[in-house]
Amino acid sequence: MSESQVRILGLSGSTRKESFNSKLLGLALSSAERQGADVTHIDLGQTPLPFYDGDLEADRGLPENVQGLKKIFENVDGFIIATPEYNGFFPGILKNCFDWLSRRKDSHDPMLSSFDGKTALLMSATVGGSGGVRSLTSLTTQLHYLGVTVLPRPFSLTHAGKLFSESDSLLSDSLALLDDRVSALMANLKKS
Ligand SMILES: Cc1cc2nc3c(=O)[nH]c(=O)nc-3n(C[C@H](O)[C@H](O)[C@H](O)COP(=O)(O)O)c2cc1C
Repeated sequence: MSESQVRILGLSGSTRKESFNSKLLGLALSSAERQGADVTHIDLGQTPLPFYDGDLEADRGLPENVQGLKKIFENVDGFIIATPEYNGFFPGILKNCFDWLSRRKDSHDPMLSSFDGKTALLMSATVGGSGGVRSLTSLTTQLHYLGVTVLPRPFSLTHAGKLFSESDSLLSDSLALLDDRVSALMANLKKS
């Protein structure tokens, strides 16, 4: 990785094997790589975190997986996050991850170092016609609170079950739109 390379972390809010959001994330991360980014992908299904518990934290400090994720988050410039919509909100697996990552290892650890000053491109795929508008709105509110700039015009995919081809790709119109949103993220991160 060169020093000028933009570093992007990809996260999906779904751990489902055939998740449309994870497929969408894969396409966006490939686009970011083609556009010159250094890309890291975290599969939250493979990085289990306990539910946030203040007693657990007081007794044992930050769990090992949280410490590992904190280092990864701190070392990137921005995020691409693909979120399902669960009952009009973004899913708990992301909320729990963010709650743990908002905690400090000790008093020398800067506040919100996993998030502050970073920029995120948000995406959502749903099987219905909502395109995840409510999960995108709630996730935006959460990320703003944590100090993340959320790029305008998130990528929203409706009727995802009908749109992905057998090779897990999208039609060229959707791919072009996705490339455009990733370019906007790259341009934002190159400026900062
Ligand atoms: C608990 C639950 C709640 C859901 N709530 C919504 C919802 O509020 N709006 C919506 O458009 N789809 C909703 N869905 C359908 C999801 O959009 C669909 O299951 C989608 O495929 C999940 O994303 P994934 O393919 O990345 O796993 C819900 C699904 C589940 C399992």
